[in-house]
Amino acid sequence: MRLQVAISHAGVASRRKAAMLIEAGFVEVNDKIVREKGLAVDPERDRIKVEGRYLKREARKVYLLINKPKGVITTASDEKGRKTVLDLLPRIVERLYPVGRLDKDTTGLLLLTNDGELAYRLTHPSFEVEKIYHVEVKGCASPQTLEKLRKGIFVDGKRTLPTSITVLKQDKRKTILTIKLHEGRKRQVRRMFEVQGHPVTKLKRVSIGNLKLGELGPGCHRGITREELKKLKTMVGMK
Ligand code: URA
Repeated sequence: MRLQVAISHAGVASRRKAAMLIEAGFVEVNDKIVREKGLAVDPERDRIKVEGRYLKREARKVYLLINKPKGVITTASDEKGRKTVLDLLPRIVERLYPVGRLDKDTTGLLLLTNDGELAYRLTHPSFEVEKIYHVEVKGCASPQTLEKLRKGIFVDGKRTLPTSITVLKQDKRKTILTIKLHEGRKRQVRRMFEVQGHPVTKLKRVSIGNLKLGELGPGCHRGITREELKKLKTMVGMK
């Protein structure tokens, strides 16, 4: 990041004012006066001083994808001492938070990050990115029932948004399908099918926007790629 940008991001001065301060010799990087506005700095590592005061260093942003196994809870810490998704990770210095929740018995893709802005936007209804779930329900869900669910049904007094459902396999005992959701109400998939008389027996999230579960095994995690992060941010209106 360029020096004057790092200063303006820290909220100390506008970009123009920061450029003037640099030129006038009021800015130090790692204890040396710097007069080069475009100097590349790393706000997480370099010590930047403006008019005698250090800028607060930005926490390194971390983005991890984990395949949550069954029986593990999504919260960052649990007062009852139950196993949480963070217990599945090696010790990481940054405090990470799960973005959106998966029920204890739901498996699949979960994003963990310390990027508050991205987390906020990903869960905000106005940006709510598409999430795809792989679902197994009891019984043979009829075409009429599925059509109702696609159009939207009342769950807890509120209509669900139109959705896309694709049946993958069906017999007398069960229906296996995918459902795409653009909202994240509590236990939404389970409630939608329960209301129609088809309790969910297995639920797995396979994607969040452009992020895919792919071949990530249960309990395993990986960092997101630069390309994935760029697309995700664009999706929620961040540069
Ligand atoms: N819908 C549910 O019912 N449960 C989840 O964990 C996610 C979506």
